[in-house]
Amino acid sequence: RPSDRLLEEKTEEILGINKNGMRCPMEQYIIKGGNPLVGEVEIGGAKNAALGILAAAIMTDETVKIENLPDVQDINVLLEAISEIGAKVERVNRTTVLINGSGIGSVSVDYEYIKKIRASYYLLGALLGKYKRAEVPLPGGCNIGSRPIDLHLKGFKALGAKVKISHGSIIAQADQLTGSHIFLDTVSVGATINIMMAASMANGYTIIENAAREPHVVDAANFLNSMGANIKGAGTDVIRIRGVEKLHKTEYSIIPDQIEAGTFMFAAAATKGDVMVKNVIPKHLEATTAKLVEIGCEVEEFDDAVRVVASKRLGCTNVKTLPYPGYPTDMQPQIGVTLALASGTSIVTESIFENRFKYMDELARMGATVKVEGNSAIITGVEKFTGARVSAPDLRAGAALVIAGLAAEGYTIVDDIVYIQRGYENFEEKLRSLGAEIERVSSEKEIQKFKLRVG
Ligand code: UD1
Repeated sequence: RPSDRLLEEKTEEILGINKNGMRCPMEQYIIKGGNPLVGEVEIGGAKNAALGILAAAIMTDETVKIENLPDVQDINVLLEAISEIGAKVERVNRTTVLINGSGIGSVSVDYEYIKKIRASYYLLGALLGKYKRAEVPLPGGCNIGSRPIDLHLKGFKALGAKVKISHGSIIAQADQLTGSHIFLDTVSVGATINIMMAASMANGYTIIENAAREPHVVDAANFLNSMGANIKGAGTDVIRIRGVEKLHKTEYSIIPDQIEAGTFMFAAAATKGDVMVKNVIPKHLEATTAKLVEIGCEVEEFDDAVRVVASKRLGCTNVKTLPYPGYPTDMQPQIGVTLALASGTSIVTESIFENRFKYMDELARMGATVKVEGNSAIITGVEKFTGARVSAPDLRAGAALVIAGLAAEGYTIVDDIVYIQRGYENFEEKLRSLGAEIERVSSEKEIQKFKLRVG
């Protein structure tokens, strides 16, 4: 089927290899910096909400319609994994999908690519809740640091499941799940959503304390409730779930992606531009907006849009990443790049993941003055960056290096953009519509062609 082929191609693209093990050509971005970004940009659906919601969609045997899906690689790989275990996945269009989980023949996910997507762990909560058994490959390491899932497993155990790790997979099973009182030691988005899914189909009442409050936790809860679940308190740190026997069909539209939105807001700031970021929920962007205002941007809020204008050189600030409603770790590299061009010295402290400053070395190659000490980066702003060849260490840092390239003098090449494609839909098209000179290329010849064209 053409839709199957499309999924396969997308999967190959993200992994850089096709099913015969052949390497696909590596792609890069080539950027000519210096243009302030000006215009309007439309934000897609939230990737991190969609990952939880797609997994939850298999928890009913009826057909679920999900709209406003972002067309990004992580989502396409998860959809492929869902169809591999026997669910029917029909792509109505680029952003809408129909999922029917009645044909799931296996609770064992052995689809090899799923290991690359950390959020494959959501299939554990979904399958365990529905079938009381799940077998999912343990997600592999990740570039932003060690990412344990002990809290997810602790939650499943508290609900009465036996959990073991065997041959690289997590196997969770229970005769029946029973509601429980669960206290999360650390605020975890993934554990909160995963436990919420399993508890939705447990017997009795579950309370999750110290729950994550991120907008995508609320979105996943709203989605489950629209399927007949009984979840209260999502968005606060105590979530109460009364288990139900069955979930049913629903139609649901995913919230806008606050991180994609924030990335464009910082792109506007770093290039001294003027960008209207449309289809957002301004409330979800408050931590980002507050920092932009603090460093000297004008930010205007509308019902479902924010406009960011940077008309002068920006100033310094200190920032520390925290769980929502604090400043998001997924927006740390974007503010880091912007502060590296601001006047004065800033301190950026990363308190969620231990290895999220790798991009600083790349930024230094573009002329930034930065020093990383433990979980803080000390950044003394420079007047300008100069273009260089850099490589994307992970998804958000990759996007931040693109912002650096857009603000730099001359040409920047960003390697390893597969990371960026995991989470940003049509990134280069959206940037070009704001006046950026950026192109996706995969050969030296194409780089030369770009340089000849833009001069
Ligand atoms: C999600 C997001 C990711 C974002 C992160 C923090 C998805 C798919 N990804 O990741 O983009 O950067 O939230 O906002 O939604 N921890 C444990 N044990 C666990 C789980 C987490 O110790 O079992 C720790 C982590 O190491 C980390 C902190 O808790 O220090 C927060 O992680 P968590 O919120 O779980 O991140 P993810 O859900 O994986």
